[in-house]
Amino acid sequence: MAHIIDIPVDYPYTNGRKTGDQVKYPQTPVFQTFNLPCRLEGDIFDLEVDGTIPSEINGTFFRIQPDHRFPLSSKRISTSVATAMSPRSESRMAMQTSNNGVIRTVANTNITFWRGMLLATKEDGPPYAMDPVTLETIGRYDFEGQVQSPTFTAHPKFDPETGEMICFGYEAGGDGNDGSCDVVVYTINADGRKTEEAWYKSPFCGMIHDCGISKNYIVLPLTPLKCSVDRLKKGGNHWAWDPEESQWYGVVPRRGGKPENIKWFRAENAFHGHVAGCYENEQGHIVFDLTIADGNVFFFFPPEGQESTNLGVRNRLESVTHRWVFDPKQESGSWVRPEVLWNTSGEFSRIDDRYVTKKYNHFWQAKIDPTRDYDAAKCGSPAGGLFNCLGHYRWDDRSEDVLGKEGEGWIIALVNRLDMLRNDVEIIDAGNLAGGPLATIHLPFKLRLGLHGNFIDHRDIEEWEKRRAPGGDVGPIQAAKRPLNWQLSYLKD
Ligand SMILES: [Fe+2]
Repeated sequence: MAHIIDIPVDYPYTNGRKTGDQVKYPQTPVFQTFNLPCRLEGDIFDLEVDGTIPSEINGTFFRIQPDHRFPLSSKRISTSVATAMSPRSESRMAMQTSNNGVIRTVANTNITFWRGMLLATKEDGPPYAMDPVTLETIGRYDFEGQVQSPTFTAHPKFDPETGEMICFGYEAGGDGNDGSCDVVVYTINADGRKTEEAWYKSPFCGMIHDCGISKNYIVLPLTPLKCSVDRLKKGGNHWAWDPEESQWYGVVPRRGGKPENIKWFRAENAFHGHVAGCYENEQGHIVFDLTIADGNVFFFFPPEGQESTNLGVRNRLESVTHRWVFDPKQESGSWVRPEVLWNTSGEFSRIDDRYVTKKYNHFWQAKIDPTRDYDAAKCGSPAGGLFNCLGHYRWDDRSEDVLGKEGEGWIIALVNRLDMLRNDVEIIDAGNLAGGPLATIHLPFKLRLGLHGNFIDHRDIEEWEKRRAPGGDVGPIQAAKRPLNWQLSYLKD
């Protein structure tokens, strides 16, 4: 979840329009050094490039990150920066204690491509559809009325064999702000039709940021960040870290899930990062790999009754890659231990997307190398952790995998030049990180810090542009036509 750490008190906007004369951002770390707001919306052509962009690459790298005042910012790699409005600018301060029928989110965490549209997502609200060519915000997207959950993950998974999207929401039973323990899991097929909707209960209302899918199962890591309605009523944070609580893993079937089918496995307290891969082994057990930090990454959500710590404390956490092997036949509530620990500190693992649900070997990760110098006085303390290099890891070091189909291609990474307040986009041979970037595209500005982004092949964009055109076989993207169910209940009142 991309979290803007604090909120200016004198917010000079009402219903999305400027009403005050405040023109300066607060002088807090949230708005200083590399966290200066970007605020840029426009097209920039003929960017400077060093090296050679591989001729096979033709597409768009979409990035997303929070940017104050303009709540959502995305970048078209060589041409465009755009902002997309979600209702946060209208709801701004209203949501600490009550929803009043207003959706309380800013879709700023991840951006994915689905059936000709970009879906901008943040897990505490519904997705928003954007045009992938113009970056225009089309509106809240409810999958043509099929998805009514108040919340929707920023990490949907796409099955490369079936073309399905597997997605979920947590705190999903009411208005998304009421501490419900309901978790909903959806499957939308390649034609856009919802084929599965299953509801489950979690042991407590906690955060589930990412998920894993194998051929037959979905794994939902439940992090011990807890919602308390009492705390919300007193004006406190939505979430509080519970250092005494276990980390949990909910395992549910991909097909025909019923509430009683969920199995929860638990392990010692820790903080989940992002998922690398997930698949079933020869025994039918689920292999599930992700980074896990040894403390509260979201230091701005301290334990109940405690003061928040700071970025310095957060940046000392170790985030190690864990491999779990779950036996889906084991009793719910069983304690589990990691099968393998990969003793490197990093985050945001990615695998070859063609290997989602399958046994895989390679993963790439934003890595923290503590031996490298860092000028904190000049560059400030990066909010998301000091990721200063990129790692390429192989679970099984067989040479045929290194040059085989898996992992063949390129890594496209946004580099934050903290010392220069600029960004570069680097294109790297996925099998040869040590060779350095094949091409570096220099952006003449800086974006705010963020982790999430995805590359979309231009052939996919063009094909869907035709299908989505008036008269095309699918037709234009349809924004939601009716309020969500929980909003309707407010309207009745
Ligand atoms: Fe994420």
